[in-house]
Order: sequence, then structure tokens, then C-alpha cells
Amino acid sequence: MTAERTFIAIKPDGVQRGLVGEVLGRFERKGFKLVALKQLIPSRDLAQEHYGVHRERPFFDKLVNFITSGPVIAMVWEGEGVISNARRMIGATKPLEADPGTIRGDLAIDIGRNVIHGSDAPETAVFEIGLWFSADELSSWEPADQIWRVEE
Ligand code: RTP
Ligand code: MG
Repeated sequence: MTAERTFIAIKPDGVQRGLVGEVLGRFERKGFKLVALKQLIPSRDLAQEHYGVHRERPFFDKLVNFITSGPVIAMVWEGEGVISNARRMIGATKPLEADPGTIRGDLAIDIGRNVIHGSDAPETAVFEIGLWFSADELSSWEPADQIWRVEE
């Protein structure tokens, strides 16, 4: 069985503010498995496809301008329940409404500078992983301490 996978991205504000290690560390310490990671400045085409569901929203152009404004850390994380759990770790879209202890709740104040993206459903995760990564960029591997993360 292949465990669930989700697409997570540290947005340009998170990279510019030096929060990459902080965010990565939370997912690592939680025990999810990192299966892909790269840094890139997204093209406008990629950004528009990624946020395609928001195409008609008034903030769409601003969102695309922001997400293409600098390097993004694109990642795939794997584990049971990782899609919904990562969303809980990330917190509410508006950082001032995000619970303390969440990434946005602890590290951000503005809706347009909310540090991190996470897929919101299984279908979105499959779509976003395929959009940002080719199959050969994903590693199938077993962390050496896996038996200490998940009971057999
Ligand atoms: P994301 O997709 O980036 O993980 O964020 P999300 O699911 O929590 O929120 P979503 O509704 O998908 O919105 C995508 C991003 O658009 C910006 N936004 N601005 N000005 C506004 O009303 C507004 N609404 C959304 C946010 O930066 C949000 O993360
Ligand atoms: Mg979203």
C-alpha cells in the first residue's frame, strides 16, 4: 500500500524570511516522510494552474504575482492522513484566525503573506504533485527510524 501523499510549498515570504528550516522541521519532527523537495521560482503558467480554482476571484492576479515573486520550496510529504493533518498543522488561511501552535498561527499575520501552502483534498494533492513534480523526482524510501514512527 502506498501511503497518502500531499503537496506542500513554502511561499516566497517564508523563504525570504528564513523560515524554511522552521517549517521543514515541524513536518520532520511530526514524523511524516519527505519524498520530494526542490526550490524554484514558479513561472506564471505554473502559478496560474496551481491556483486555477481561484481564477475568477478578485485577488487572483495579486496571488499569482506574489507566488512568482521569488523562490518557493516545493515538497511532497507522505504518511497516513497527511493531507488533512498537514492542513491542521498549517492553520487557517487568515493567520490572525489561525490557532497558536499552527504554522500560520505562530509565524504570520497577513492573509496574503501566509508562509505556506498545503493541498486541501486527495484529488487536489494528486493534481498538485503532478503539476510541480515529475515521477522521477519522487523518492520511494524507508526512513531508518520508520519502525519508531509507525507501529507495524
Ligand atoms: P493555500 O491554497 O495557499 O494553501 O491557502 P488556503 O487553501 O488556506 O486558502 P485558499 O482559499 O486556497 O486561498 C489561496 C490563497 O489566496 C490568498 N487569499 N487572499 N484577499 C483575500 O480575500 C484572499 N483570499 C485568499 C491567500 O494567500 C490564500 O492562502
Ligand atoms: Mg487553497
